[in-house]
Amino acid sequence: MVSIAPSMLGADFGKMREAAELVAPYSSHLHMDVMDGHFVPNLTMGVDLVKALKGIAPLDVHLMVTDPLNFIDDFHEAGAEIISVHVEANNPREALERINEKNIKSGIAFNPSTSKDEIIPLLDFADMILIMSVEPGYCGQSFHENAIERVKFFKDNYPGKLIEVDGGVSTVNSAILNQNGADILVAGSAIFKSINPIETIKLMKQS
Ligand code: DX5
Ligand code: ZN
Repeated sequence: MVSIAPSMLGADFGKMREAAELVAPYSSHLHMDVMDGHFVPNLTMGVDLVKALKGIAPLDVHLMVTDPLNFIDDFHEAGAEIISVHVEANNPREALERINEKNIKSGIAFNPSTSKDEIIPLLDFADMILIMSVEPGYCGQSFHENAIERVKFFKDNYPGKLIEVDGGVSTVNSAILNQNGADILVAGSAIFKSINPIETIKLMKQS
């Protein structure tokens, strides 16, 4: 069954712990979006915020930063159990190797506008493929349909890799992503802007 990683960027930052505790029993991970205002035009979460949620559920840290090598040690110490870096960032291979040295899971992320071929040489160094279904930067954008065929391609050709999908995921597209082989669905707005976040998670998991 597919598992759900709520994107905490979609939660109310004034009630972050409460939001995390609400969704954690139904979630495999809490997805933490780290942006540096350079790789993407937005600033979001730092090490201290990630550390504040340690222990509520396993933390899945998605680095949208230009130089991920500068941040891996700190986020590992903060309690990350998965760290993903972008193929479009600097030194992705070295960053994956640094993550692997920590004995936590490593993910390679790529944008909807990036060719899927770009990540293939890096797959020997990654446990997880993070298929972006929006251009990174913000919550609440609409889902890029090319993610569906990408999920199928990587599930068929690299069955040993975990597949995570991130951006615009909701009860509208969770079933097709699940059927094509996604392992982890990340969702921010769909969960935290819904009237009943727990029901929304359950619906996405059952689809
Ligand atoms: C986008 C982030 C996503 C985002 C998901 O840059 O990586 O994790 O917060 O939010 P929704 O589900 O609202 O697209
Ligand atoms: Zn993300």
